Amino acid sequence: MQIHSSIPDLRAALRNCGRIVFVPTMGNLHAGHIALMTQAQALGDTVVASLFVNRLQFGPNEDFDKYPRTFAEDCEKLEAAGVAVLFAPGENELYPEVQQYQVDPPDIQNQLEGEFRPGHFRGVATVVLKLFNIVQPQVAVFGKKDYQQLMVLRNMTRQLALPIEIVGGDTVRADDGLALSSRNGYLTATERAEAPRLYRVLSDIRSAVRGGEQDFAKLEQTAVVQLDTHGWQTDYVAVRQQSDLQVPQAGNNSLVVLAASRLGIPRLIDNIEI
Ligand code: PAF
Repeated sequence: MQIHSSIPDLRAALRNCGRIVFVPTMGNLHAGHIALMTQAQALGDTVVASLFVNRLQFGPNEDFDKYPRTFAEDCEKLEAAGVAVLFAPGENELYPEVQQYQVDPPDIQNQLEGEFRPGHFRGVATVVLKLFNIVQPQVAVFGKKDYQQLMVLRNMTRQLALPIEIVGGDTVRADDGLALSSRNGYLTATERAEAPRLYRVLSDIRSAVRGGEQDFAKLEQTAVVQLDTHGWQTDYVAVRQQSDLQVPQAGNNSLVVLAASRLGIPRLIDNIEI
């Protein structure tokens, strides 16, 4: 695997690489990331991953400084997964000056995750557009675990007419249902045993909706109570339309249920399509 930290070196390395499939990451890779790399192999000629902990998408009280950085282990995993090229820029390479030009997503950036993480999606969209301009892939793969992120990036790509196909990768779960996440490493043993409840309450909502329940507000409220009586502090549980993450219109059956809740220090997010 080639590793490049400079933009000109990366661009030179990517000449004549055929159809490039790009998988951006912030590192601390787990089986969920590796599944995206495997999926990427089948979509083109050259898989390019990036590893960059993007300061712009972290709020002032979030875990930017503490975010786990495991570069050597990540490189081993990417190499084993058949990634051809890794772009791992330092901050001075990607942000050599204050990034004053930024991508401002529409109002969805203030809902769900955005309500609790102001500015997060602006930071994500900005770095991803910049990475797209550097790598110039034909395809990019993002995990469905960050469902709202995938939707924002898909819509950005379409509205800005970027010649890139956006592909979603299924969430990888532990045997007990917990979605794999870099932030699971923050859980204590007791919290780890409790954590699969998030997936269970989402699964219960899916079963209820499939069984004909239409009172989404009641389902959401019941889920919040179930979580919070077991020590969680829930930000939201929400049934939304898959296409735009708005409140479901009558007759729309392509739904997704999304949740974010804090268990001790870590804040976990998850979702299930219905
Ligand atoms: O999902 C992530 O890891 C990040 O938000 C991304 C897409 C790499 C942008 O920094």
